[in-house]
Amino acid sequence: MTGITIALSKGRILEEALPLLATAGIVPRDDPTRSRKLILPTSREGLRLVIVRAADVPTYVEHGAADLGIAGRDVLVEHGGTGLYQPLDLGIGACRMMVAVPDGFDYASAVHRGARLRVATKYVTAAREHFAAKGVHVDLIKLYGSMELAPLTGLADAIVDLVSTGNTLKANRLVAVEEVMVVSSRLIVNQAALKLRRAEIQPLIRSLAQVVAGQGQEVVHG
Ligand code: ATP
Ligand code: PRP
Repeated sequence: MTGITIALSKGRILEEALPLLATAGIVPRDDPTRSRKLILPTSREGLRLVIVRAADVPTYVEHGAADLGIAGRDVLVEHGGTGLYQPLDLGIGACRMMVAVPDGFDYASAVHRGARLRVATKYVTAAREHFAAKGVHVDLIKLYGSMELAPLTGLADAIVDLVSTGNTLKANRLVAVEEVMVVSSRLIVNQAALKLRRAEIQPLIRSLAQVVAGQGQEVVHG
């Protein structure tokens, strides 16, 4: 495949990434929020965007089907990060991964008693590591969305999910009790592509780094 391909997901990431890309001089030729096309040429010759599910972005980049991608730290931790270089925190998609329980559930004393908790989440890797580090006994239940429903229906005692405004937790009478990690979206790059096509890819990383720095965000690695 010639040219450069950037993978990103529709919705939140796309909405927040488009202004960053535009400042770096990259504008999709079709409106990606309306188009049903999955491959979008951009104003920059030889550079295209591909639209995939959020959790699939690291897979496309790992296998070199996309050279770069934009993915949340939540998704990257679940993927494992194999074959990916993560040069830049883009500062978008900012939220926190939290443990949450029904309002009134005494999480601290359940943990103190050594109770075994049923925890529903899409983020089983992050959750397993978090509870293992805290010495909390858990049975993890894998879900693919609407985690907030699990404690309300008796499926689980607690959830691990993303929280930003807190409105979703509040609407479902849940409260956050512990932070698992702070989340934002990262630029990810296929390691082999970076080595073999550094002359094309490095300037792109640099210009995005400049855009992000101009918006008061931080460059995390090289
Ligand atoms: P899909 O739609 O494919 O099922 P998804 O629901 O995880 O995936 P989005 O909701 O668009 O997709 O989330 C994409 C990314 O945006 C997440 O991986 C996370 O990094 C970030 N994100 C999710 N929820 C929030 C939120 N409430 N506030 C800020 N960022 C968020
Ligand atoms: C995410 C997350 C929470 C919600 C939290 O879901 O899974 O449900 O945002 O945000 P808040 O604290 O601002 O309410 P999203 O809106 O992406 O829907 P999803 O279920 O499709 O992932």
